[in-house]
Amino acid sequence: MRGSPLGIEAPALVLGATGLLGTRLVPALAAECETVTHARSVGANYSADLADSHVTAQMLDAVRPSLIINLAALTDVDLCQEQPQQAYLANVKSIENVVAWMQARDAQCHLLHISTDQVYDGPGPHVENNVTIVNTYGLSKYAGELAALSVGATVLRTNFFGRSARPGRESLSDWLSRCLLAGAPISVFDDVLFSPLSLGTLVHMILRTARIQPRGVFNLGAADGMSKADFAFAFAAALGVHQPAMKRTSSRVFRPLSAVRPLDMRMNSRRIEVALGVRMPRLQQEIESTAIEYRDAY
Ligand SMILES: NC(=O)c1ccc[n+]([C@@H]2O[C@H](COP(=O)([O-])OP(=O)(O)OC[C@H]3O[C@@H](n4cnc5c(N)ncnc54)[C@H](OP(=O)(O)O)[C@@H]3O)[C@@H](O)[C@H]2O)c1
Repeated sequence: MRGSPLGIEAPALVLGATGLLGTRLVPALAAECETVTHARSVGANYSADLADSHVTAQMLDAVRPSLIINLAALTDVDLCQEQPQQAYLANVKSIENVVAWMQARDAQCHLLHISTDQVYDGPGPHVENNVTIVNTYGLSKYAGELAALSVGATVLRTNFFGRSARPGRESLSDWLSRCLLAGAPISVFDDVLFSPLSLGTLVHMILRTARIQPRGVFNLGAADGMSKADFAFAFAAALGVHQPAMKRTSSRVFRPLSAVRPLDMRMNSRRIEVALGVRMPRLQQEIESTAIEYRDAY
């Protein structure tokens, strides 16, 4: 579709389109250009296990996309720790298969690959080359980035929250909202720092990135960060919900998790601001705009 607002010769192919991010991204992308969706199981135009090079190549030959946005991943951090082979297949081999197809066909196609802030730890905010790996999820996502970069991809490291459009798949803010409304006792970590974006802003930034197609690795987070505990209390206040059962705690005393979690994932997003000509919003702003979405739905 020449002359689409995104300026690409469609179709755009979204891999992992049925997940938390994909179900919010696809309607916005489809409003801009012809969009084809993929998932491993059901609910998309194409179903394929990307870890299988043959079915991946068959799908890509059929679609012949000019833009691939890769959201497909094994995102369960504890499962990745327990099943490193599954993490490798979903987060590394899958991207290697897409890249191999692009190279074999000499495809005129840009790859926009979504990665994570879990490749950071130690005092932030982190710039892109300040990688510290503490768990298998982070390692597998980092290895996937390296594969994507071999074809001049855009790699966006991000974290996000907001209303899920996928039944049964909760975001951090979905979980908080559910617990707060039920008055359920929850512990929130005051020693884990992050700088996520709202899903609304993230989708907007991905579309802008798809238009400009800067190459390399970019952090894509809020202009500042806060602890998960401060985030939870700010979100409760923005929702207008009392939180007598919500307690601050240290992640060190809470150990039912298999995988070690980074303590400081805050990102310095200056590089993407320059590449896209934008300023990233502050996290408090993102919390307030997201709370409106939840309040409207109550
Ligand atoms: N969720 C977060 O808080 C978060 C934070 C930071 C970064 N990210 C990154 O953002 C991206 C999107 O995350 P998300 O939360 O939207 O993911 P998600 O909800 O877990 O969805 C993952 C998607 O990938 C597909 N998929 C998984 N393994 C596959 C395979 N082997 N072959 C083909 N498709 C496969 C799934 O299809 P089926 O459902 O059919 O299996 C699903 O459509 C990921 O790259 C993730 O690392 C997420």
